[in-house]
Amino acid sequence: MGRIREFTNAEALFQSAAELILALALKLESGNPFTIALSGGSTPRGLYQRMASDGMKSQFPWPKMHFFLTDERWVPATDPQSNFRMAQETLLKPVEVAQGHIHPIHTSLGSPEASAREYEEKITHFFNTGPGEFPVFNLILLGLGTDGHTASLFSGDPATLEEKRLVMPALLNSELPRVTLTFPVINRAQNVVFLVCGAEKQAIFHKIFHQNPGPKPLPAQKVRPAAGELYWFVSRG
Ligand code: 6PG
Repeated sequence: MGRIREFTNAEALFQSAAELILALALKLESGNPFTIALSGGSTPRGLYQRMASDGMKSQFPWPKMHFFLTDERWVPATDPQSNFRMAQETLLKPVEVAQGHIHPIHTSLGSPEASAREYEEKITHFFNTGPGEFPVFNLILLGLGTDGHTASLFSGDPATLEEKRLVMPALLNSELPRVTLTFPVINRAQNVVFLVCGAEKQAIFHKIFHQNPGPKPLPAQKVRPAAGELYWFVSRG
Protein backbone atom coordinates (compact mmCIF):
# COMPACT_ATOMS: atom_id res chain seq x y z
CA MET A 1 0.00 0.00 0.00
CA GLY A 2 3.01 2.25 -0.19
CA ARG A 3 5.19 4.36 2.07
CA ILE A 4 3.51 7.00 4.23
CA ARG A 5 5.26 10.27 4.99
CA GLU A 6 3.31 12.38 7.48
CA PHE A 7 3.84 16.10 8.00
CA THR A 8 2.54 18.60 10.52
CA ASN A 9 1.60 21.10 7.85
CA ALA A 10 1.16 21.43 4.12
CA GLU A 11 4.24 23.58 3.63
CA ALA A 12 6.49 20.87 5.04
CA LEU A 13 4.73 18.34 2.81
CA PHE A 14 5.23 20.45 -0.31
CA GLN A 15 8.93 20.95 0.45
CA SER A 16 9.51 17.25 0.93
CA ALA A 17 7.51 16.29 -2.15
CA ALA A 18 9.42 18.83 -4.24
CA GLU A 19 12.70 17.37 -2.97
CA LEU A 20 11.54 13.86 -3.91
CA ILE A 21 10.59 14.98 -7.43
CA LEU A 22 13.94 16.74 -7.77
CA ALA A 23 15.81 13.63 -6.66
CA LEU A 24 13.87 11.43 -9.09
CA ALA A 25 14.46 13.82 -11.98
CA LEU A 26 18.17 14.16 -11.25
CA LYS A 27 18.85 10.46 -10.85
CA LEU A 28 17.39 9.63 -14.26
CA GLU A 29 20.26 8.93 -16.60
CA SER A 30 20.95 11.80 -18.96
CA GLY A 31 19.46 11.63 -22.40
CA ASN A 32 16.13 10.22 -21.24
CA PRO A 33 13.14 12.51 -20.73
CA PHE A 34 11.68 12.66 -17.22
CA THR A 35 7.96 12.20 -17.71
CA ILE A 36 5.66 13.53 -14.99
CA ALA A 37 1.86 13.59 -14.95
CA LEU A 38 0.60 16.52 -12.91
CA SER A 39 -2.41 16.13 -10.65
CA GLY A 40 -5.16 18.72 -10.61
CA GLY A 41 -7.43 20.11 -7.93
CA SER A 42 -6.24 22.57 -5.32
CA THR A 43 -3.75 20.58 -3.23
CA PRO A 44 -0.89 20.47 -5.75
CA ARG A 45 -0.81 24.28 -6.11
CA GLY A 46 1.51 24.58 -3.15
CA LEU A 47 3.83 21.88 -4.47
CA TYR A 48 4.07 23.43 -7.92
CA GLN A 49 4.71 26.87 -6.40
CA ARG A 50 7.45 25.38 -4.25
CA MET A 51 9.09 23.75 -7.29
CA ALA A 52 8.97 27.11 -9.09
CA SER A 53 10.24 29.06 -6.07
CA ASP A 54 13.52 30.98 -6.18
CA GLY A 55 14.96 28.52 -3.70
CA MET A 56 14.28 25.45 -5.82
CA LYS A 57 13.70 26.20 -9.51
CA SER A 58 17.38 26.55 -10.36
CA GLN A 59 17.99 22.99 -9.14
CA PHE A 60 15.58 21.23 -11.48
CA PRO A 61 16.70 19.79 -14.85
CA TRP A 62 13.77 21.47 -16.62
CA PRO A 63 15.03 20.81 -20.16
CA LYS A 64 14.74 17.04 -19.63
CA MET A 65 11.30 17.17 -18.00
CA HIS A 66 8.05 16.58 -19.89
CA PHE A 67 4.78 17.55 -18.25
CA PHE A 68 1.55 15.68 -18.83
CA LEU A 69 -1.76 15.87 -16.96
CA THR A 70 -3.21 13.07 -14.85
CA ASP A 71 -6.68 14.32 -15.66
CA GLU A 72 -8.64 17.37 -16.75
CA ARG A 73 -12.02 18.90 -16.28
CA TRP A 74 -14.06 19.43 -19.44
CA VAL A 75 -13.73 23.20 -19.42
CA PRO A 76 -11.79 25.66 -21.61
CA ALA A 77 -8.07 25.91 -20.80
CA THR A 78 -8.73 29.46 -19.63
CA ASP A 79 -11.42 28.41 -17.15
CA PRO A 80 -10.53 28.80 -13.44
CA GLN A 81 -11.46 25.12 -12.98
CA SER A 82 -8.95 23.97 -15.59
CA ASN A 83 -6.17 21.80 -14.16
CA PHE A 84 -3.95 22.88 -17.03
CA ARG A 85 -4.53 26.54 -16.23
CA MET A 86 -3.56 25.89 -12.61
CA ALA A 87 -0.39 24.08 -13.66
CA GLN A 88 0.47 26.84 -16.10
CA GLU A 89 0.02 29.56 -13.49
CA THR A 90 1.85 27.88 -10.63
CA LEU A 91 4.65 26.02 -12.40
CA LEU A 92 4.93 25.85 -16.18
CA LYS A 93 4.92 29.59 -16.90
CA PRO A 94 7.04 30.67 -13.91
CA VAL A 95 9.85 28.26 -14.85
CA GLU A 96 9.33 28.86 -18.57
CA VAL A 97 8.93 25.23 -19.56
CA ALA A 98 9.32 24.91 -23.34
CA GLN A 99 6.03 24.48 -25.17
CA GLY A 100 7.20 21.17 -26.65
CA HIS A 101 7.61 19.82 -23.11
CA ILE A 102 4.02 20.59 -22.10
CA HIS A 103 1.36 18.03 -23.02
CA PRO A 104 -2.09 19.19 -21.93
CA ILE A 105 -5.35 17.36 -22.38
CA HIS A 106 -7.15 19.38 -25.06
CA THR A 107 -10.70 20.24 -24.07
CA SER A 108 -11.35 22.18 -27.25
CA LEU A 109 -12.33 19.07 -29.16
CA GLY A 110 -15.93 18.04 -29.77
CA SER A 111 -16.41 15.79 -26.74
CA PRO A 112 -14.63 14.27 -23.73
CA GLU A 113 -14.40 11.05 -25.75
CA ALA A 114 -12.66 12.82 -28.64
CA SER A 115 -10.34 14.49 -26.15
CA ALA A 116 -9.52 11.15 -24.52
CA ARG A 117 -8.76 9.56 -27.89
CA GLU A 118 -6.53 12.46 -28.89
CA TYR A 119 -4.60 12.34 -25.60
CA GLU A 120 -4.19 8.61 -25.91
CA GLU A 121 -2.70 9.09 -29.38
CA LYS A 122 -0.41 11.81 -28.06
CA ILE A 123 0.84 9.60 -25.23
CA THR A 124 1.20 6.57 -27.48
CA HIS A 125 3.28 8.62 -29.90
CA PHE A 126 5.45 10.15 -27.21
CA PHE A 127 6.19 6.84 -25.48
CA ASN A 128 6.31 4.97 -28.78
CA THR A 129 4.06 2.22 -27.44
CA GLY A 130 2.38 -0.33 -29.68
CA PRO A 131 -1.06 -1.95 -29.50
CA GLY A 132 -1.67 -3.48 -26.07
CA GLU A 133 1.38 -1.74 -24.61
CA PHE A 134 1.26 0.87 -21.86
CA PRO A 135 3.45 3.93 -21.27
CA VAL A 136 5.67 3.97 -18.19
CA PHE A 137 5.68 7.43 -16.64
CA ASN A 138 8.59 8.27 -14.37
CA LEU A 139 6.18 9.92 -11.96
CA ILE A 140 2.43 10.32 -11.60
CA LEU A 141 1.06 12.73 -9.00
CA LEU A 142 -2.37 12.04 -7.54
CA GLY A 143 -4.80 13.75 -5.22
CA LEU A 144 -7.50 12.17 -3.10
CA GLY A 145 -11.15 13.10 -2.92
CA THR A 146 -13.10 12.67 0.30
CA ASP A 147 -15.17 10.04 -1.53
CA GLY A 148 -12.05 8.03 -2.31
CA HIS A 149 -11.71 9.10 -5.93
CA THR A 150 -8.36 9.88 -7.45
CA ALA A 151 -7.50 11.51 -10.76
CA SER A 152 -10.94 11.58 -12.36
CA LEU A 153 -11.64 7.97 -11.44
CA PHE A 154 -14.84 7.93 -9.47
CA SER A 155 -16.68 4.96 -7.96
CA GLY A 156 -19.22 3.61 -10.41
CA ASP A 157 -17.72 5.27 -13.47
CA PRO A 158 -16.74 2.89 -16.33
CA ALA A 159 -13.40 4.72 -16.56
CA THR A 160 -12.54 3.27 -13.16
CA LEU A 161 -13.00 -0.27 -14.48
CA GLU A 162 -11.13 0.28 -17.75
CA GLU A 163 -8.28 -2.16 -18.30
CA LYS A 164 -7.23 -1.52 -21.89
CA ARG A 165 -7.49 2.16 -22.79
CA LEU A 166 -4.89 4.65 -21.59
CA VAL A 167 -7.23 7.61 -21.35
CA MET A 168 -10.99 7.72 -20.79
CA PRO A 169 -13.78 10.23 -20.53
CA ALA A 170 -15.26 10.29 -17.02
CA LEU A 171 -18.88 11.34 -17.18
CA LEU A 172 -20.48 10.00 -14.00
CA ASN A 173 -20.44 11.06 -10.35
CA SER A 174 -18.49 14.22 -10.98
CA GLU A 175 -19.74 17.77 -11.08
CA LEU A 176 -18.12 18.21 -14.48
CA PRO A 177 -17.37 15.86 -17.36
CA ARG A 178 -13.69 14.94 -17.21
CA VAL A 179 -10.88 13.15 -19.04
CA THR A 180 -8.51 10.91 -17.10
CA LEU A 181 -5.58 8.54 -17.24
CA THR A 182 -6.71 5.02 -16.40
CA PHE A 183 -5.47 2.59 -13.75
CA PRO A 184 -3.47 0.49 -16.23
CA VAL A 185 -1.36 3.59 -16.87
CA ILE A 186 -1.22 4.78 -13.26
CA ASN A 187 -0.19 1.32 -12.02
CA ARG A 188 2.68 1.07 -14.48
CA ALA A 189 4.36 4.29 -13.38
CA GLN A 190 7.82 4.01 -11.84
CA ASN A 191 6.69 6.31 -9.04
CA VAL A 192 3.23 7.34 -7.84
CA VAL A 193 2.84 10.06 -5.23
CA PHE A 194 -0.43 10.84 -3.46
CA LEU A 195 -0.70 14.35 -2.02
CA VAL A 196 -3.21 14.45 0.86
CA CYS A 197 -3.56 17.68 2.81
CA GLY A 198 -6.08 18.78 5.39
CA ALA A 199 -8.03 17.44 8.33
CA GLU A 200 -10.98 16.74 6.06
CA LYS A 201 -8.98 14.11 4.20
CA GLN A 202 -7.84 12.15 7.26
CA ALA A 203 -10.92 9.95 7.50
CA ILE A 204 -10.83 8.85 3.87
CA PHE A 205 -7.07 8.32 4.02
CA HIS A 206 -7.38 6.00 7.02
CA LYS A 207 -10.34 4.22 5.43
CA ILE A 208 -8.27 3.54 2.34
CA PHE A 209 -5.34 2.29 4.34
CA HIS A 210 -7.12 0.24 6.99
CA GLN A 211 -10.38 -0.88 5.41
CA ASN A 212 -10.19 -4.12 3.50
CA PRO A 213 -10.85 -3.18 -0.15
CA GLY A 214 -13.20 -6.14 -0.57
CA PRO A 215 -15.01 -6.77 -3.87
CA LYS A 216 -15.65 -3.07 -4.48
CA PRO A 217 -12.47 -1.16 -3.62
CA LEU A 218 -12.52 2.60 -3.51
CA PRO A 219 -10.80 4.03 -6.57
CA ALA A 220 -7.75 5.15 -4.60
CA GLN A 221 -7.40 1.58 -3.29
CA LYS A 222 -6.90 0.45 -6.87
CA VAL A 223 -3.64 2.40 -7.08
CA ARG A 224 -1.14 -0.43 -6.70
CA PRO A 225 1.89 0.15 -8.91
CA ALA A 226 2.97 -3.23 -10.27
CA ALA A 227 6.68 -2.47 -10.11
CA GLY A 228 6.80 1.17 -9.10
CA GLU A 229 7.11 2.97 -5.79
CA LEU A 230 3.97 4.33 -4.11
CA TYR A 231 4.30 7.27 -1.72
CA TRP A 232 1.62 8.88 0.43
CA PHE A 233 2.46 12.43 1.50
CA VAL A 234 -0.07 13.30 4.20
CA SER A 235 -0.55 16.36 6.37
CA ARG A 236 -3.30 17.36 8.76
CA GLY A 237 -2.83 21.01 7.97
C1 6PG B 1 -9.16 17.04 -9.95
C2 6PG B 1 -8.23 15.99 -9.41
C3 6PG B 1 -8.88 15.28 -8.27
C4 6PG B 1 -8.32 15.90 -7.02
C5 6PG B 1 -9.07 15.48 -5.80
C6 6PG B 1 -8.58 16.28 -4.59
O1 6PG B 1 -9.13 17.29 -11.17
O2 6PG B 1 -9.87 17.63 -9.13
O3 6PG B 1 -7.77 15.17 -10.32
O4 6PG B 1 -8.67 13.90 -8.24
O5 6PG B 1 -6.95 15.51 -6.91
O6 6PG B 1 -10.44 15.74 -6.01
O7 6PG B 1 -8.84 17.63 -4.87
P1 6PG B 1 -8.26 18.79 -3.90
O8 6PG B 1 -6.77 18.75 -4.03
O9 6PG B 1 -8.84 20.04 -4.49
O10 6PG B 1 -8.74 18.46 -2.52
